[in-house]
Amino acid sequence: MTDVFYFTGTGNSLAVARDICDELNGRLSAIPAELKQETIATEAETIIIVFPVYNHIFPFIIRRFINRFKDIVEKRIYAVCTFGDSPGIALELLDTALKEMRTRLSGGFSVKMPYNYVTPPKSFKKFFGRFKLRENDEKEQKRQFMAWKEKLPEIIKYIRGNETGRIEREYVLIERLLDILNLRDTLQKKTWLKIAGYRGKTDRPLIEAVQLFDYGFHTDDKCTSCGICEKVCPVENISLENSSPRWLHHCEQCFACLQWCPEHAIQFREGTKGLERYHHPDINLPDIINSH
Ligand SMILES: Cc1cc2nc3c(=O)[nH]c(=O)nc-3n(C[C@H](O)[C@H](O)[C@H](O)COP(=O)(O)O)c2cc1C
Repeated sequence: MTDVFYFTGTGNSLAVARDICDELNGRLSAIPAELKQETIATEAETIIIVFPVYNHIFPFIIRRFINRFKDIVEKRIYAVCTFGDSPGIALELLDTALKEMRTRLSGGFSVKMPYNYVTPPKSFKKFFGRFKLRENDEKEQKRQFMAWKEKLPEIIKYIRGNETGRIEREYVLIERLLDILNLRDTLQKKTWLKIAGYRGKTDRPLIEAVQLFDYGFHTDDKCTSCGICEKVCPVENISLENSSPRWLHHCEQCFACLQWCPEHAIQFREGTKGLERYHHPDINLPDIINSH
């Protein structure tokens, strides 16, 4: 028996998790829903964790998920990350986190998918306020979805064969240097907090400081108070107060609220207004609402 656990904001990781689950005849579970239980447990011998890469590492919710997982040392664990630019060493970092829990990743795979976050401007002027949503070229998206379908059998064969040892990664030296010099929890964290418009200080490491990046969200006058943002948020980080969404600062920064808003009324600083929203074409709003 195989359990496939996933976390997603815009559906890329759900589409990947579904395909893997169908091939392996496994059971699909949403990580935010699992986290509502005191302990997470399964009879399955193999578990597969599917998640998006955030800021070159794995999302904070994945750390909470593995910490809560009962008898994780007895499981064969595989992971699949989706990413827009590069998987970096996100899978290796997950392996390290598991090593601290006296277990290991048996294998880790990466899947290139459309990028759903903001990226820096070409010019340095107004650097911190102007991170923009990336426009995803349709042809390129189709190519990425096809490449995933071509890669799928390879991953399935690996997992079915109980193979171990393969962890996909890129830019290993640079990424490891970031950790050696502690630049993720200093420079990278400070930069992103500033981009999000957070004015305070925090001792939390980058992986956790992401919860404060929701200071960057606001609504514009197109908001109809429909409440979809509240419904798609996987971690109940949005509450509608006086008909307006309020972000509660335990955000996963999945961008579901911004990307699924039917009016495109949710903005992140100055870099998202008037730009196309993205979600995986095979994933719809009820799929996302049911993902937690
Ligand atoms: C907060 C955040 C940070 C991200 N950081 C990275 C990154 O460091 N490298 C990368 O290649 N893609 C990054 N992405 C892009 C996502 O990993 C990618 O689009 C992913 O497939 C989204 O998955 P989902 O649709 O399941 O949410 C980031 C996305 C978000 C929302």
